[in-house]
Amino acid sequence: MTQTPAAPGPDDGRVGVTIDGREVRVPKGTLVLDAATELGIHIPIYCAHAKLDPVAVCRMCLVHIEKFPKPQPACATTVAEGMVVTTNNAEVTKLREGVLEFLLVNHPLDCPVCDRGGECDLQDFTFRYGPGTSRFPITEKVHFAKALPLSQHIELDQERCILCWRCVRYYDEITGEKEIVLQQRGVQTLVTTFNGEQLKSNFQGNLPEVCPVGALTHREYRFRARPWELQRAPSVCPECSYGCNINADSRDFEIKRFASRDNPLVDDMWLCDRGRYSFPQWNTSERVRRPQLRPRGGEQRDVTAVEAISAAARELRAVVDQHGSGAVGVLGSALNTNEELWLLGRLARDVIGTPHIDHQLEPFEKLDPAEHALGIADIEECDALVVLGAEPEAEAPVLTLRLFKAERKRGARVHRLDHGADPSRIASAVRGAKTIGVIADETNRAHAARVAAAITGGAVRRLTVTRGVNGRGAKDMGVLPGLAAGYRSAPSGKHGREILEAAASGALRALLILGPNPALETAGDVLQRALARADSVVVIDSRPGVCAGAATVLIPGHAFFEKHGTVTNLEGRVQRIRPALPPATPTPTETRVLSSLAAELGARDWDRGEPSAVNRALRAALAPYAAAGNGGRATWVAEAVA
Ligand code: SF4
Ligand code: SF4
Ligand code: FES
Repeated sequence: MTQTPAAPGPDDGRVGVTIDGREVRVPKGTLVLDAATELGIHIPIYCAHAKLDPVAVCRMCLVHIEKFPKPQPACATTVAEGMVVTTNNAEVTKLREGVLEFLLVNHPLDCPVCDRGGECDLQDFTFRYGPGTSRFPITEKVHFAKALPLSQHIELDQERCILCWRCVRYYDEITGEKEIVLQQRGVQTLVTTFNGEQLKSNFQGNLPEVCPVGALTHREYRFRARPWELQRAPSVCPECSYGCNINADSRDFEIKRFASRDNPLVDDMWLCDRGRYSFPQWNTSERVRRPQLRPRGGEQRDVTAVEAISAAARELRAVVDQHGSGAVGVLGSALNTNEELWLLGRLARDVIGTPHIDHQLEPFEKLDPAEHALGIADIEECDALVVLGAEPEAEAPVLTLRLFKAERKRGARVHRLDHGADPSRIASAVRGAKTIGVIADETNRAHAARVAAAITGGAVRRLTVTRGVNGRGAKDMGVLPGLAAGYRSAPSGKHGREILEAAASGALRALLILGPNPALETAGDVLQRALARADSVVVIDSRPGVCAGAATVLIPGHAFFEKHGTVTNLEGRVQRIRPALPPATPTPTETRVLSSLAAELGARDWDRGEPSAVNRALRAALAPYAAAGNGGRATWVAEAVA
């Protein structure tokens, strides 16, 4: 069937093309593949990948283009005004059948025992576009090695490889490392590691997602589940403040894997191995399951959640009545959601009346909005980037990939310098750059400010890498001494370590701890002494540990993957988390427990504490969170935090 070219449109930087008889206008430089996708037309691909440069080696995407003497690869051909493309005629069908028959000549056909079965592009396209039969006898296949461990995480099946080069290009283009190569020629070509060495990359867990077939698989996931059995919960990686988007895939009440969920503004679809392979910890059966009262010198007993909340209120009220509200210390955590932290701050300041509240051990001077002005995606717009010390990339590993992208794709110069490098030396190193990013970890905020001030002649933006998945949210929600939600000034109080020291010395008589808080457990001896000395220790926690073990009132909490809520990443992006697992305890959510506790302590204007209602309330109170909505950035202005 002859198609009519689209009539030329205005010169607006777009061109008109006709694909399978349908017209579309797309920006100049768009690939035929992407123009077809825009029309909802599927073109099968193997070597092409949205995050990699085109190489056009597999020929799966060949299409007919009028006036071209031969079929062209849609993944490497850019559109032109008036171009007429056909993706579904007899010629294209025959070409696809030929490519698939060829790819299957030596393929082992072990779909029934392959981990990719059910989410494999070779399997899917063979069903959809394949010839149905093969002219090559199944007994004459060339065989390669199977189940080769390339590291503790990755396993390789060489005979499943379709030689698409994606894994090699992933290293070249995304991480800048060289760990995988293709060796030999012709039918003997095989994929292997460089010099036969084990993979060392901190980002090797992305390989099975890049590979379109089951050649590269996760050792931790092998034979654990079939894709169609998995329940998928879109969430956020809980391992650091970068906030990579993930799908938490579970089966039979266990998380089986974390898969990437592309957010171009944050992770760009990549995860680090620390985050990706951290999922088993969420399947632990070591949990706080029952509310308990453990009076000092008395007998421990299980109670209902309502009784535990009443007992907690009684103990806290007794301390306030006897020693004043300043005798209570309140500790949250960077693993709590914004909704929980918002209520915890209000409970501490407005209901109990104590200024001693924190979520970390170290003191925190007030937020300088400039220190979060540089967004993750903005890194690519910088001419020069200064990274102070190894800490930022150690704490938020996927940052390394964004820096490499800025270097490789935009020609940015990345200066990795000492934690305390001389500001004037840095200023001369970046002289001439028009846009400069300065990145530091939370312990180096003051020095980063000095570095930024020393740089003249260019626009400088800073990014502070906060600690913990919601360390930034904890600060925004006012779980800090002297700073209420939105960085509003509040009566000065003790920071985390001082709270523990005061409790250990008897100056504070009660502790209210909303866990889990791994940072708190690094405090060592002072934590033990504080917990032992306080008259009352009210702990809401999901994990048994030092704090739960010393509680006078223990209320079970919910793990990160059992919660609804939001967390805020290091650049201020507010992102939703959703439950991937059923709750391990019938106790109400932390937000409801905190609301009930507030009511028991006399608060009259609190609602029931449903996470969605708390989220609405905090957005009504904090304009940057109202503006951020779900997925946007909460940014603060200088006057608001003065
Ligand atoms: S191992 Fe996978 S990604 Fe690498 S070349 Fe083979 S099929 Fe492609
Ligand atoms: S960079 Fe941080 S958020 Fe991203 S995958 Fe790694 S640990 Fe998780
Ligand atoms: S996907 Fe186009 S040639 Fe491989």
